[in-house]
Amino acid sequence: MRLDKFLTECGIGTRREVKEIISKNEITINGRRTSSPKEKIDLENDVVRMGETVLEYKEDRFYILNKTAGFITATEDAREKTVMELLPEWVNRKDLFPVGRLDKDTEGLLLFTNNGKIAHELLSPKKHVDKTYQVKLLKEIDEKSVKLLEEGVDIGGYVTKPSKVQIINNMEILLTISEGRFHQVKKMLDAVENKVVYLKRLRFGNLELGDLPLGEVKEVTLTDIF
Ligand code: URA
Repeated sequence: MRLDKFLTECGIGTRREVKEIISKNEITINGRRTSSPKEKIDLENDVVRMGETVLEYKEDRFYILNKTAGFITATEDAREKTVMELLPEWVNRKDLFPVGRLDKDTEGLLLFTNNGKIAHELLSPKKHVDKTYQVKLLKEIDEKSVKLLEEGVDIGGYVTKPSKVQIINNMEILLTISEGRFHQVKKMLDAVENKVVYLKRLRFGNLELGDLPLGEVKEVTLTDIF
């Protein structure tokens, strides 16, 4: 792969920006400085550095973010802050997008990838990828509501598929759903005459938030996902 393409694929900048970086002699290939954008990189064997940093090319990338409240799930927006702004410098953002969405006021696990096929698979209703949410409630929850949530509730013309409720205490539950409809968890709690006051996604399929601190990002692999 050509050096300028390699650098854009690594998320360093646009073709024009990376040409500028290369012309400033900031890149080394196996320790040798180069100022030619046309140099060929052997992806298997060559070590490319920008300053001290070794640049790594990955065709498919996966990252999880512990999203903080106050950011919308979108790649860009004219008015609101987006989840892309929560990604640190070291993340290669090229073609990266969030898989599914969390509401602006929701925290927790949000997966990012540049692989559309995998994103599609994870979001497909046929795949039934389980998502577990920590849900804090406005009112105490009773057994009848738990039963209704587990069996399925009407959220405005649609009856939800069976879910799993674990009671943390009478004002807090863990809710596992296999769907991902718009505002689903909030609507489900509305349907049992309660209200969500705090929502955090703890698990998405095999991916778990674990001890990832709020606002932090971790790279994951395909084998962590499936
Ligand atoms: N359900 C909701 O209501 N909001 C979210 O952000 C995620 C699931």
